[in-house]
Amino acid sequence: MAKNSNLAAARKAQNNEFYTQLADVEKELIYYTEQFCGKVVLCNCDDPAQSNFWRYFHLNFTQMGLRGLVSTHYDAEEPTYKLEYYGGDDANVEAGIRTELTGNGDFRSPECYDLLIQCNIVVTNPPFSLAREYIPLLVNSEKQFLITNNLNSVTYKEIFPFFRDNKMWVGYTSPKRFLCPDGTLKAFGNVLWFTNIDIEKRHEPLPLSRRFSDNPEMYPRFDNYDAINAKKAVDIPIDYPGVMGVPISFLTRYCPEQFEIVGITKTPIGSHLRTKIYDPQIQHRAAGCTKVTKLNDAAAILVPGVPEKYPFYEVDGRFYTTSYPRILVRRK
Ligand SMILES: C[S@@+](CC[C@H](N)C(=O)[O-])C[C@H]1O[C@@H](n2cnc3c(N)ncnc32)[C@H](O)[C@@H]1O
Repeated sequence: MAKNSNLAAARKAQNNEFYTQLADVEKELIYYTEQFCGKVVLCNCDDPAQSNFWRYFHLNFTQMGLRGLVSTHYDAEEPTYKLEYYGGDDANVEAGIRTELTGNGDFRSPECYDLLIQCNIVVTNPPFSLAREYIPLLVNSEKQFLITNNLNSVTYKEIFPFFRDNKMWVGYTSPKRFLCPDGTLKAFGNVLWFTNIDIEKRHEPLPLSRRFSDNPEMYPRFDNYDAINAKKAVDIPIDYPGVMGVPISFLTRYCPEQFEIVGITKTPIGSHLRTKIYDPQIQHRAAGCTKVTKLNDAAAILVPGVPEKYPFYEVDGRFYTTSYPRILVRRK
């Protein structure tokens, strides 16, 4: 199965049981050692008996100068427990104080929320299917965090504003394979780390060399947003002062000193930036034509003549193509 259809299938089945490998935790955490000194870490979607987050922080507890480590186990059906570790036996990952929870360890429960409020940093791989609830809860708690998530979730209306407003950004690495309960590995595309911990990478400007004035045809203007389209982040022209649409992968290179995030070409979060509404419209696909409204949900590019590739859209005899949501940015 393709990587992204794996993720879609997991979401559909609400199958959140895949686990982060220790090597992937290590690869990312290596960049944050100083920020953890003196801190209490909470892993709030982690069975400590098998979580590599628990394992990593336990094994490196003294070296990182941690003050505490707390992990809550989740069970959909039954009450579970939390495990806390405050040092003394780092190499024995079973060492810890076990306390029964009154509920099932759901991160939304009052007792788990209390643990969130008491900790300093949350680090975990939460259930991707609950990202719309998990991430706002975390950001609004004003705690520091470092979590894995799917890049596509940045287009969600519940999540995009946090990136736009610099309350959350992308970390360094990209875990590619996750452990399944049967011990096999499953590949997932587009998994990144989201964090609000200040990291050096975030302040490194993206090196750019292209000029709009050298090749304006490379940057078609959207018909319904006041912006041009840059196909890749590295294609952003150094001499264009207006708003530019870039793929969401731009966030892996985003430096807030270099760019301002203005919005996104997706409704409803980007609706106020649209300059035009199309009505009526016809979608052309290989299978035939249908009346739709979805051209209004995306950035449209007017093309001369009939496009070669499906799908495309027709409004009053004019033809348009669209792309996956574009993040709208402006140079500072
Ligand atoms: C993608 S797995 C990752 C597990 C672990 N953090 C790791 O990386 O190895 C997400 C975990 O969240 C747990 N989970 C699902 N719903 C939850 C909820 N509402 N509250 C807390 N944990 C939940 C699942 O049981 C699952 O083990």
